[in-house]
Amino acid sequence: MNRDMNVEVVSRFKRKDNAAQRELCEQLLQTNLDFKSSRNNHEPRHYWHAFPAKFPWQLPKLFIENLTPVAGRVLDPMAGSCTTLLEASLLNRESVGFDIDPLSLIIGRAKFQRFSPDSAVETAYRVLKEAREKFDFFKDKLKDALKKRFDPETLSFLDYWFLEDTQLELLALIREIEKIADEAIKQFLMLIFSSIIITKSGGVTMAYDLAHTRPHRVLSKVPNSAFQDFSKRLFKNLQKFQELPPAEVFLKEADAKNMPLAGESVDLIFTSPPYANNAIDYMRAHKFSLVWFGCKISDLKQIRKTYLGSETTLNFRLNDLPAYSKSKVLELKKINKKKGRALHRYYSEMCEVIKEMYRVLKHGRACVIVVASSVLSGVDVETHLCLSEIGKTHGFEMAHTGKRSIDRNRRMLPTSHNKTGSQIETRMHTEYILGFWKV
Ligand SMILES: C[S@@+](CC[C@H](N)C(=O)[O-])C[C@H]1O[C@@H](n2cnc3c(N)ncnc32)[C@H](O)[C@@H]1O
Repeated sequence: MNRDMNVEVVSRFKRKDNAAQRELCEQLLQTNLDFKSSRNNHEPRHYWHAFPAKFPWQLPKLFIENLTPVAGRVLDPMAGSCTTLLEASLLNRESVGFDIDPLSLIIGRAKFQRFSPDSAVETAYRVLKEAREKFDFFKDKLKDALKKRFDPETLSFLDYWFLEDTQLELLALIREIEKIADEAIKQFLMLIFSSIIITKSGGVTMAYDLAHTRPHRVLSKVPNSAFQDFSKRLFKNLQKFQELPPAEVFLKEADAKNMPLAGESVDLIFTSPPYANNAIDYMRAHKFSLVWFGCKISDLKQIRKTYLGSETTLNFRLNDLPAYSKSKVLELKKINKKKGRALHRYYSEMCEVIKEMYRVLKHGRACVIVVASSVLSGVDVETHLCLSEIGKTHGFEMAHTGKRSIDRNRRMLPTSHNKTGSQIETRMHTEYILGFWKV
C-alpha cells in the first residue's frame, strides 16, 4: 500500500469510528439521565463544598467514559465546583477547566491537591489551637486586626451578616491558615473554611439559604461556633479519603468566551452555563466567604457584572441573534425592557461561548451542554431551544437533546420558601442535555 492509500484507509476508518461515536452519543442522550439514587457511595470530594446547580457526577461520567479515550482531554469551560473535571480525573483523562469565579477556583484547586490526611489533621489541629488561643486571650488585638484588614464597606457587610464573636473566630482561623507553608494542605483548609460559611442550613452566619444564593438574615438564628464547625467539617471531608489517579488537571481563571487553548485540542466538552438573567446569583452567596480571602465587596461587584447571565447591559455589545432566539428576546422586551436586554446579552454571550467551544473541539467529537430554561416576567425564554439554535448557527450539528427531571433539593436550586408565583417558583423542573456534534 502506498502512503496515499494508507491515509485514505485511515481516514475511512476514522469516518466509520466517528459515525459510531456519534450514534453512541445519540443513544446515551436517550437513556434515563435522572440519576436519583446512589448519591454517597462515590468520590467524597463531590460533597466537600456546597455549590448551587451542580450536576450529578453520574452525568459527566457517562459521557466521558463512553465518548473519550483514556488520557483524552475533557474540558469544562464553566467548571463551577469541578464535577466534570473530577470525574475526568477519576477516569484517567486529562481535565481542563476554566471559571471566572474566585470561589470556584478555590474549591476546584483544593479538590485536586495531593496530601496525607494525617498531616492535614495535624496542621488543622495546630490552626485550631492557635486560633482558639488568640480568641480566648487576645480578643482586643483581633478586633484591631479586623478593622485593619477590611475596608469600611466590607466591614459593614460583615457586621450585618456575622456576629462579632463569629467574625473574630473566623479572622483567627484564616490568619492561621494563611501561615501554612504546605500549599496543598493550605488549599484544603481554605476549602473547609469556606464550607462552614456557605451552607445549606446551620452555618456560622446570620443568613438562611446561603447555599441557594438567596440569603436572608434571621435575627433569631443562633450561628454555630466557627471552631466547632471547622473541626466537624475536617473529619467529614476526610472520611473515605483516597488519592486521585495521577491524571493531569489544568484549572485556571479564564473567560469561557476566550480560552487559553489551542484549536481542535479537546476530545469532549461537558459543561453547564449559568441560568439566564442571573436566576442563580452565585456572587450573592460566594462573597460571604470570598471577603475572608482578601476580596473587597466593591471588587466582587465588578466580577459579578462579568458573569454570563448578569443583568448589566451597559457598554455591552449585543449580537444579532438567530430568528427564534431573537423572537424570545423581543417577546420579553415588550413586557420588560430591562429583562429583555439582559436576555439579549445572555444569548449574545452564549453565541461567543459556543463559537469558542467549537474552535477548541476536535472534529468528530461531542460538546454536551446541560441547561434549564427560565420563566422571566411570565415568558418562558426556552433556553434549551435558543442554545440549540445558536449552536447550529455556529457550525454544530445536533446529535440529540436529552431530558432529565431536576432533583431540586440535591442540585440546590432555589426552593420552596419563595412566594408562590414568584419568578423562581415558576422555574423549570426539567433540565435539557444538548448533545452537539462537530462533524
Ligand atoms: C451552573 S455553574 C456550573 C456548575 C458545574 N457544572 C458543577 O457541577 O459544579 C456555571 C458556572 O459558570 C461560571 N461562569 C459564569 N460566567 C463565566 C464566564 N464568563 N466564563 C467562565 N465561567 C463562567 C460560574 O462562575 C459558575 O461557576
